[in-house]
Amino acid sequence: MTDWQKSDWRDKPRVQMPDYPDTDTLTSVEGKLSQYPPLVFAGEARRLKEELAAAGRGEAFLLQGGDCAEAFDQFSADHIRDTFKVLLQMAVVLTYGAKVPVIKMGRMAGQFAKPRSAPTEVKDGVELPSYRGDIINELDFTAAARIPDPGKMLQAYTQAAATLNLLRAFSTGGYADVNQVHAWTLGFTEGEKAEKYRDVAARISDALDFMRAAGLDGESTSALQSVDFYTSHESLLLEYEEALTRVDSTSGKWLAGSGHFLWIGDRTRQPDGAHVTFLKGVQNPIGIKTGPSITSDDLKSLISTLNPGNEAGRITLINRFGAGKVGDHLPALIRAVEEEGFAVTWVCDAMHGNTIKSATGYKTRPFDSVLREVREFFAVHTAEGTIPGGVHFEMTGQDVTECTGGVRAVTEENLSDRYHTACDPRLNASQSLELAFLVAEELTARRISDAVRPAVAG
Ligand code: PEP
Ligand code: CO
Repeated sequence: MTDWQKSDWRDKPRVQMPDYPDTDTLTSVEGKLSQYPPLVFAGEARRLKEELAAAGRGEAFLLQGGDCAEAFDQFSADHIRDTFKVLLQMAVVLTYGAKVPVIKMGRMAGQFAKPRSAPTEVKDGVELPSYRGDIINELDFTAAARIPDPGKMLQAYTQAAATLNLLRAFSTGGYADVNQVHAWTLGFTEGEKAEKYRDVAARISDALDFMRAAGLDGESTSALQSVDFYTSHESLLLEYEEALTRVDSTSGKWLAGSGHFLWIGDRTRQPDGAHVTFLKGVQNPIGIKTGPSITSDDLKSLISTLNPGNEAGRITLINRFGAGKVGDHLPALIRAVEEEGFAVTWVCDAMHGNTIKSATGYKTRPFDSVLREVREFFAVHTAEGTIPGGVHFEMTGQDVTECTGGVRAVTEENLSDRYHTACDPRLNASQSLELAFLVAEELTARRISDAVRPAVAG
């Protein structure tokens, strides 16, 4: 890929990107951004790629989560800390189930640009261009607010840099205290599920007590006090991505410096389109969202274009079919990938196929559908003999009411109480942790059946 240039996407058909009316400002913003420091470094992206390769082999497990869209007016240290904390809590529970390292990755520090199902939005007979994320235009329903403004890329960069700065500090500052595990289940009311969670929490706590008793604390458990935390976002706004793309001096390869892991959305994965052309040339590990419309042939051609050397860890397939539909789509894709011998990491996005409009008019996702999609994902991999490599959620550490259900149930009537998302509905802290316990159960069941299978066969 030596002749690839970071601007190659500009000659390709583009979808879901704004047409900036103010091209002078656009050019000046791109010039500034291309002088600014990259947010992530090549060595980090390479390490993540190795970890994702391990997840593809069943030797690690990916937890990817965060806001659907980061928002300028929700930017605060508390917001970042709370989401980070819930992700770490989920990771501890998943580690318990998977018994392998959990890769922690936020939809954070760059998740600003949104693909939309329609280019315009109509309210009370007024039609305006759709909101495309805070890096492009504004959510307010006025003509002025919806004009794409290139200057917003600078604000997004600043927010991403400050977010990453805090995340890096939290990751090494002993913030992630696993000894709090008991407190995490306190909010769950009585009942069969709550009991199961307390049981898992008690086992984790036991393991920690054992380590302390055996002298495995202090210095030697520094792994519990510091974590590797990675950032990710949809690589949608290519002017921003191009401006932050640099040659890594160690390897001479291009690196997208806006985040560790970038993905291509389900709406922008045209094999000869601008987004695929851009991601083809950067060395970051990348994700491909795969929804019900992708065919096996589409997938094969995308993977060969994006990973011609079949490098493990380069491609993560983030499936988002919807509850009840995984069995209709995933087996064929798995077989196509296996036939070609492609190294990929399979991940379940249990959110984007499960969005519905509630009776009260809010976009929501029923917790049970999210859970059901995860279960179907695991069941298909068990049936196919392949590896479920991770999970992808839209979640927040705040106590929002955006998805219905969960042990501390949010009802359709409650949705209006604390509905704050700028885009899709997110799981709240309690729903996220509950989901982690349920995924841990799937992982445990899988390990047990793996352990039993050879014995039976032998
Ligand atoms: C998203 O992840 O927020 C998103 C828009 O996903 P998809 O491309 O899978 O619809
Ligand atoms: Co979303």
